[in-house]
Amino acid sequence: MSDILVHTEDGVATLSFNRLERKNSITSAMYAAMADAVEQAAADATVRVLVIQGHETVFSAGNDIGDFLNQPPATADAPVFRFLRGIASFPKPVIAAVSGPAVGIGTTLLFHCDLVYAGDNAAFSMPFVNLGLCPEAASSLLVPQMFGYHRAAEALLLGEPFMAEAALEAGLVNRVLPPTEANGYAQAQARKLAAKPLSALIETKRLMKQGQAARVLEQMAEEGASFGRMLREPAAREAFTAFMEKRKPDFSKV
Ligand code: COA
Repeated sequence: MSDILVHTEDGVATLSFNRLERKNSITSAMYAAMADAVEQAAADATVRVLVIQGHETVFSAGNDIGDFLNQPPATADAPVFRFLRGIASFPKPVIAAVSGPAVGIGTTLLFHCDLVYAGDNAAFSMPFVNLGLCPEAASSLLVPQMFGYHRAAEALLLGEPFMAEAALEAGLVNRVLPPTEANGYAQAQARKLAAKPLSALIETKRLMKQGQAARVLEQMAEEGASFGRMLREPAAREAFTAFMEKRKPDFSKV
């Protein structure tokens, strides 16, 4: 069984994380599959809406930390960056259904979705600093815009989780549901959108996003260069090794 499932039905392409034993953490092979699926969904005229979903207990634990240690993304063409550019410029509607933990990219990818439905157990976090890293997915631009600077600083500098209700209040989430209903609700909303005229959806999304579409890609590229460098530096190596060894990181020497 693949770690990423892709299923298309009734004009809705659904990309599901399917690596529950590792809390849906994402390896570079998974990013490659996700990037390919997003590119295909963009090009396929029969696909009108993209849904990204996890399991009712966990959306995604973010990047697979062992994978980060062993094969950190080296260039702008690395699968993770290809996936991020793909969703940031996806022309048709994207819906996410999020329950349980959504760590790192599990949260930042949501800033590129048009609609987000959350289980009431959703716990969002962007602990990049705690891992010796910096934000990615243009989150250093988009989180301050959505949350206001001080709440963004809390989320990005302290890296503490915030729950579904706080995400609803901040505008990251459209609706909070029982976790068992989030994926089904997202699918129902996707089918509503899929029944609408595609050209009108695409043009409306383009107009809403055009003010800063180029800026988002520029910010992503700059973050990506820093992120790639920082992954190889002592603070991140210590954080990842500590996670693998199930101990607290010691940043006193980095
Ligand atoms: N990369 C690699 N393995 C991961 C992982 C990740 N990001 N997240 C979880 N796992 C593994 C755990 O090591 C554990 O493996 P084990 O069974 O061999 O011990 C297994 O998945 C289950 O995770 P566990 O931590 O026991 O689950 P939990 O329900 O107690 O906590 C999380 C879930 C998501 C809160 C917690 O796993 C976590 O904080 N993960 C790391 C998140 C992170 O820092 N991601 C990087 C963002 S850039």
